[in-house]
Amino acid sequence: MNMISAEPQPATRTVTVDLAGRSYPIHIGPGLLDQAGRHIGPHLKNRRCTIVTDETIAGFHLSTLMENLRDDGIDCRTVILPPGEKTKSFANLESVCSQLLASGLDRSDMVVALGGGVIGDLAGFAAAVVLRGIGFVQIPTTLLAQVDSSVGGKTGINTSHGKNLVGAFHQPVLVLADTALLDTLPEREVRAGYAETVKYGLIRDEAFFDWLTDNYDAVLSGDHAARIHAVEMSCRHKADVVAADEHERGMRALLNLGHTFGHAFEAETGYSDALLHGEAVALGTAMAFRMSHRLGLCSENSVARVEQHLTKVGLPTRVANIPVDRTSADQILAHMAKDKKAMGNTLAFILVRGIGDAFVSRDVEPDFLRKFIQDELNRQ
Ligand code: NAD
Ligand code: GLY
Repeated sequence: MNMISAEPQPATRTVTVDLAGRSYPIHIGPGLLDQAGRHIGPHLKNRRCTIVTDETIAGFHLSTLMENLRDDGIDCRTVILPPGEKTKSFANLESVCSQLLASGLDRSDMVVALGGGVIGDLAGFAAAVVLRGIGFVQIPTTLLAQVDSSVGGKTGINTSHGKNLVGAFHQPVLVLADTALLDTLPEREVRAGYAETVKYGLIRDEAFFDWLTDNYDAVLSGDHAARIHAVEMSCRHKADVVAADEHERGMRALLNLGHTFGHAFEAETGYSDALLHGEAVALGTAMAFRMSHRLGLCSENSVARVEQHLTKVGLPTRVANIPVDRTSADQILAHMAKDKKAMGNTLAFILVRGIGDAFVSRDVEPDFLRKFIQDELNRQ
C-alpha cells in the first residue's frame, strides 16, 4: 500500500501526531537543538525542566542544549545515566524518580529526554509515573529514536521477565528530531536505526522501500536531505498508525514487524552490545518474510529483495550473522513466550503478503513454528 509520497527537500519539516487534546508536533531538521528553548519554553509554566540523558550523549550534546535553554531563561537540572540497553532497569527508574523528587518538582515540571530509545523509554516512563504523571519532551539523538521510539508514547523498562514488560503509554508534548545530532552517532548505530526505518516501507509503503533501496547510502552516510526525508516519512507513518490505534488494540501491532523473533535473540545475547535492538529487528524481519514465504503468503522474490537490501546495508538477516551459539528452538520459543504475555496470551506474528503489505496473524501452528525456528538455527 503506497500511503504517502513526497520528494525530499532539505528544510525543517513538521509532522503532527493527531490525538485530539494531546496532539503534538514532531519537528525534523538540522539545528533544532540550537532552538530548543524557543520550542520547549511555551510548554513550561515555571521556566524549569530536568534533562535526562546518558554519559555518551552528554559528552557530545548536553552543553549545547543547556546553553540554549539558559539563554532563553530556562533553569535546567540534569540526570546523567550510563549508556546501553541495561540502563532501562527498575534501579534506574528509581534513581531518575528519586532525583526528580529530590529536586522539589511539582506537576507543572517537565522532563526532557535527550537520547536514544533507552533514554526516551526510561525518562518517558519516569515522567509517566512521578507525581502520577508530568509532561515530557523527546529530543531523540539516534536514528532509531528519530524514526520510531520518540514518537507514539510507548515508555518503559526491561525486567528479568523480558523486554519492555513494565511501562506506560505516555505521549510527549513535543518531539525535536535534530537530524544533525546523528552526525556523532557511530555507524553501527545508524545501521541499527535503519532497520526501524525500512520497517515502514515493508509494512505499508512499497514506494518508500523503493526510495530507500535507491537512497540508503545517502541516509547512512549522512546526507542531510536524505536523512530528513527518511525521518519525515517514518514519522508520518508512525503518526498515522498511532493516531488510529494509540494503545495497540489493532493495527499498531504491525509496527512490531520482526520484533517477536528479534526480542528473543536480544534476550539470548543478554541485551548486550553483542546484538543491538535494530540488528535484532533486521534479523527478525528477514525471518518474518521467510516464514511468510514458507506459509505460502509471499513470493520468493519479495524475500530475496528484503534479504539483499538488509545485507547491502550491513544488517544481519540470518542467525549465522549474529554472535549467538548453542541455543535451541526451545530456548527461542521460551523467550518468545514472554512477549506472548504482552499480546493477550497468544503469540502474534506480523506476516506479509509482499513488500508493503503486512498483517497480524495469531494462527501460526506451534509445530510449524518450532520446525521453522529449528531450520533457521541450522541454516548457514
Ligand atoms: P540507545 O538509546 O542505547 O543508543 C545507542 C547508543 O548510541 C548509546 O550508547 C548512546 O549513548 C549512543 N548515542 C545516542 N545518541 C548519540 C549521538 N547523537 N552521538 C553519539 N552517540 C550517541 O539505543 P537506540 O537504538 O536509540 O534505542 C534502543 C531502545 O529503543 C531499545 O530499548 C528499544 O526497546 C527501544 N525502542 C522503543 C520504541 C518505542 O516505541 N518506545 C520503539 C523502538 C525501540
Ligand atoms: N515501536 C512500536 C510501537 O511504537 O508501537
